[in-house]
Amino acid sequence: MNEYPYPLKIRAVWWKEESRETCWINTLKLPFHEEITCSSDPGRIAKAIIDMEIRGAPAIGVAAALGIASYAYTITNKPLEEYTRLLIDAINLLWNTRPTAHNLFWALKRMKQKLHSGLEETTDTVKLAEKLEEEALAIMDEDIRANIKLGEYGAELVPDNSTILTHCNAGALATAAFGTAEGVMRAAWYRGKKIRVIATETRPVLQGARLTVWELVREGIPVTLITDNMAGYVIRKGLVDLVIVGADRVTREGYVVNKIGTYMIALAAKRKGIPFYVAAPTSTIDLESSIDDVVIEERNPDEVRKVLGHPITLPDVPALNYAFDITDPDLVTAIITEKGVIHPPYPENIPRILEH
Ligand code: MRU
Repeated sequence: MNEYPYPLKIRAVWWKEESRETCWINTLKLPFHEEITCSSDPGRIAKAIIDMEIRGAPAIGVAAALGIASYAYTITNKPLEEYTRLLIDAINLLWNTRPTAHNLFWALKRMKQKLHSGLEETTDTVKLAEKLEEEALAIMDEDIRANIKLGEYGAELVPDNSTILTHCNAGALATAAFGTAEGVMRAAWYRGKKIRVIATETRPVLQGARLTVWELVREGIPVTLITDNMAGYVIRKGLVDLVIVGADRVTREGYVVNKIGTYMIALAAKRKGIPFYVAAPTSTIDLESSIDDVVIEERNPDEVRKVLGHPITLPDVPALNYAFDITDPDLVTAIITEKGVIHPPYPENIPRILEH
């Protein structure tokens, strides 16, 4: 019996009970190979996040938390002082993998707090590892429940017989399960709404073409692929009723940091007068930073000079590779969270919903 109200057909990261390892599906290999890796080594998990085997804001937060718990079990024979230091080093290592998604820092802060509160209660390293496991599993479970809940809130906003445009992959493959933007699509679909999805391919890493398409086809939701530069025209042509995307970070002012290309889609949606929704759990909302404090990740320019590893230009031409962009609050119709749908004005309504 599934303990969640919907089937979780796709998992991006999970806990392997028998070996207490962190497992993930290597999203770099999809849709061609379903390769699963399990590890307790924070170095390996950090590499998986940097290389984007594991990607998507909630998924990297969950993977980092599970990774700390897995690692804790492998070092229980160490003296307490060394055990604590090794765990703090592992937290720092994972902290420095990718700079933009808020969920990573949110999850690692929780793990650090759990370690500190645990140390006040016990000096037994096995008991401490159990406490860290409990916290990591709670982070994973909360992510799944948040996605389902926000999916249900969001489904109310999706008209029957409508076409949704999405960008990148904010699906089960970007979270512990169920997805945020795709969570809304799933909830609408499970309620019997007829929806169609237009997915952008999402250069340079192709999360839309490789992951969103794979995920939606598995779910049976009709999906049509477009190149990123078609988004404006399909919106102008009236082929899109609403846009739903995920977020890597939402600031207290309501700025949305998401996959590069999101901003252009938001501008086109505004111009055409169709809703532009952002689906994100509250773990993505950063009340502390203002938009100027957010670090936009710049990745290896080779990702731009190549497609799936194949060169498409001169090998040494300068290339920019910003992984994310910023969408202004006035372009965002509403932010769909597990605590409810947040409407403008965001500086007042975002903190209000977080207090609930
Ligand atoms: O670089 P990625 O693939 O980690 O970027 C992912 C996105 O931009 C997603 O839209 C975002 O993390 C939300 S995932 C629910």
